[in-house]
Amino acid sequence: MLRRLHHDQPESFAFTPDNQKWAEAQMTKYPEGRQASAIIPILWRAQEQEGWLTRPAIEHVAEMLGLSYIRALEVATFYFMFQLQPVGSVAHIQVCGTTSCMICGAEDLVQVCRDKIAPKPHELSADGKFSWEEVECLGSCSNAPMAQIGKDYYEDLTTGRMAEIIDELSAGNVPVPGPQNGRYASEPLAGLTSLTEHESGRTQYNASVQLAVDIGDTVKRIDGTEVPLVTPWQGKPANADIKPGKAVTPGEGTGRRAQNEATKSNAEATNKAVPPHNAPAKAAEAAAPQGKKPRTMKTPRKAGADDLKLIKGVGPKLEMMLNNMGFYHFDQIAKWTEAEVAWVDDNLEGFKGRVSRDNWVDQAGSLANDRTT
Ligand code: FES
Repeated sequence: MLRRLHHDQPESFAFTPDNQKWAEAQMTKYPEGRQASAIIPILWRAQEQEGWLTRPAIEHVAEMLGLSYIRALEVATFYFMFQLQPVGSVAHIQVCGTTSCMICGAEDLVQVCRDKIAPKPHELSADGKFSWEEVECLGSCSNAPMAQIGKDYYEDLTTGRMAEIIDELSAGNVPVPGPQNGRYASEPLAGLTSLTEHESGRTQYNASVQLAVDIGDTVKRIDGTEVPLVTPWQGKPANADIKPGKAVTPGEGTGRRAQNEATKSNAEATNKAVPPHNAPAKAAEAAAPQGKKPRTMKTPRKAGADDLKLIKGVGPKLEMMLNNMGFYHFDQIAKWTEAEVAWVDDNLEGFKGRVSRDNWVDQAGSLANDRTT
């Protein structure tokens, strides 16, 4: 299947402040110089925020990671999980069409989507609320036929239930995901025949449905406030687990902000109570100004500014930031001392550490030499 960028694109893309913080935190998971490894989760976050991956979003992520646009585009167009065209404003429905689901009636579910949404996959419904597509096995074969709607699985579907789910979503409600025929998980419909001790001590829903219900973001666009940002790999305690809350019932909608706020303050309080062992040192480090500010220029020289994007790792956004700080020429950058590199590294908001990571000074030195020889 040919996967191309959509012909209509928005002018720009920006993460919400919380999503931006989340994305920057993901980049710290990887060793210095390997931040590009964060591309899939960050592209995914952009899609969770907007519903689909726009060209400005792909370019924004490329700039964050110091990648050329084509590298980010290659990733976005390779993986089918990335939607390259607008999806329904309420939900995008992905019906599994692989063997188990096909045998159990996936083609009939697809027909429901054709009838109720649009004749062709990836087409928006007349009211713009829905879109659909057929996808490969989603790994829930024992609950076939099934569909992924938003972030969650709706399993053991019938054509009647599929149609009802679309109607419920259209009316602003969010049906509880998981098995739709009364099963708890993937046990026999008549109940467990062995390991029956597992019948007791259950939560209301199976683990994944319970989590979906607790968070309540099944078909919601993510703005970053839904779940507390935790970064245990940075030495902070990984104790901000989501606490089960009141279950979403069909008809209750997606408004879980109050509960999430409560979870957030709970997590923040716990984080405060058990500070990481290196917290004071880190806080002092963060507060202290780093390095020495290099000499800057008010404007570029008469011949015009150098194309700083020739430095590997500098994209249009970083070039603009450098120009705004008063750096226009390779020879300016080539002269930075260690302390000056530290200052610039510390002042590149959202791109901290890039100068040393990509060795701009040496790169700029070579580029400046090339210009004079
Ligand atoms: S075949 Fe449909 S989930 Fe595996």
